[in-house]
Amino acid sequence: VRQLVKQRRPPGFPPGPSPIPIIGNIMSLATEPHVFLKKQSEVHGQIFSIDLGGILTVVLNGYDCIRECLYNQSEVFADRPSLPLFKKMTKMGGLLNCKYSKGWIEHRKLACNSFRYFGSGQRLFERKISEECMFLVDAIDQHKGKAFNPKHLVTNAVSNITNLIIFGQRFTYDDHNFQHMIELFSENVELAVSGWALLYNAFPWIEYLPFGKHQKLFFNAAEVYDFLLRVTKEFSQGRVPHMPRHYVDAYLDELERNAGDPNSSFSYENLIYSVGELIIAGTETTTNTLRWAMLYMALYPNIQERVHREIDSVLANGRMPTLEDKQKMPYVEAVLHEVLRFCNIVPLGIFRATSQDANVNGYTIPKGTMVITNLYSVHFDEKYWNDPGVFSPQRFLDANGNFVRREAFLPFSLGRRQCLGEQLARMEMFLFFTTLLQRFHLQFPMGTIPTIAPKLGMTLQPKPYSICAVRRHQKS
Ligand code: HEM
Repeated sequence: VRQLVKQRRPPGFPPGPSPIPIIGNIMSLATEPHVFLKKQSEVHGQIFSIDLGGILTVVLNGYDCIRECLYNQSEVFADRPSLPLFKKMTKMGGLLNCKYSKGWIEHRKLACNSFRYFGSGQRLFERKISEECMFLVDAIDQHKGKAFNPKHLVTNAVSNITNLIIFGQRFTYDDHNFQHMIELFSENVELAVSGWALLYNAFPWIEYLPFGKHQKLFFNAAEVYDFLLRVTKEFSQGRVPHMPRHYVDAYLDELERNAGDPNSSFSYENLIYSVGELIIAGTETTTNTLRWAMLYMALYPNIQERVHREIDSVLANGRMPTLEDKQKMPYVEAVLHEVLRFCNIVPLGIFRATSQDANVNGYTIPKGTMVITNLYSVHFDEKYWNDPGVFSPQRFLDANGNFVRREAFLPFSLGRRQCLGEQLARMEMFLFFTTLLQRFHLQFPMGTIPTIAPKLGMTLQPKPYSICAVRRHQKS
């Protein structure tokens, strides 16, 4: 009876599909939830609600509605839901899943400053990314044009950029401990939106069941925490207070500065949570984008050829790309934008919640309601995109071949909680992609074409595929 009462929508709440008793609409989210939710919005409107086992959740769809909530009512939609899973994982602290509070402001500010100070704001940093690009090229070269799965190498290369900011150091591609940690963490990104995780949020007592994928999630999280605790301690050795070498040092300075303040959110535990969140948020997303980009280049040789031509014309005599070259490469930019639009790396964003009572399109949403932002529905919004189901970099170019920004393009989301790594991700994607395509021709092994159906999770990634990276000789 309690479940049935919980399921009832309060007056003025957005309507939605009828829930099944007890589990609500959880089962409908089993396959491609972003596609299912967009279809539902065609029936119930851009803003509607679903029932996740008694947790009434508002779903925002389409550019207009998402902009109204995340941008025009930025603060109202800036919270994260207090779900049992997040409570268990990071006690609603850290950064990414932190409640909209003083703690979030403090952690976000520190992370943004550190990313600027140790990353994009530093002149040498671009050179460091280029160095990592060369490590990646060398490692790919070892396959001598034969088929290989690029996931492992791309993940290592990309995570090293965040590692430089967080620990001041890269990890070598044969560092099995680090790789193992990333694997467990990315498995959790997948499991976090599995049916079992949704069930756990609705019925936390299933924690005591000896089976279920949520157990694997907890187990992985504990191992990841131990690893991060160890490396954080290791990299803070030799620290000189107020002379931070990286994010961990900068955090410890803050921790010490606020030691006497009982309201301070800085703690050793929150340091580990935020380190983990920054590593995974930076790695999983950028890696997936590059893996999709490689796959689409092999799938569309004519697009790849145009990329090659543009790179060769700008980078005379095979010189390394720099960020300055970006303006001269509108086609490369268009390809990367179309990959982000079409592949929907974070299709449902990261779950939000209302920080106060909200009014949208005549509906009333109480404070603390969970909110899903269907970013996929923005990128496939027919009002803003022609033939959204077609992969076409051309849509980001004007008649003269210049790059054009498009409004309904939100891979990094919008508002208070929008991605803080956007600038870094853009630097990485451009430099990695251009360096790879400058040197290699990408093709599938004879007679194979991998599926473009994504592997589902909090992020969408390609299913494992093999590719041949054949050295090319630049025409100048
Ligand atoms: C949040 C996308 C790269 C760190 C987010 C969100 C999205 C996103 C959709 C959710 C924002 C919301 O709640 O509405 C992406 C994509 C990336 C990328 C597509 C690459 C192509 C990065 C990088 C970092 C990063 C490189 C840092 C190393 C974060 C953090 C948050 C976040 C910390 C949480 C922000 C907060 O809660 O205040 N990202 N991201 N991301 N991203 Fe990214």
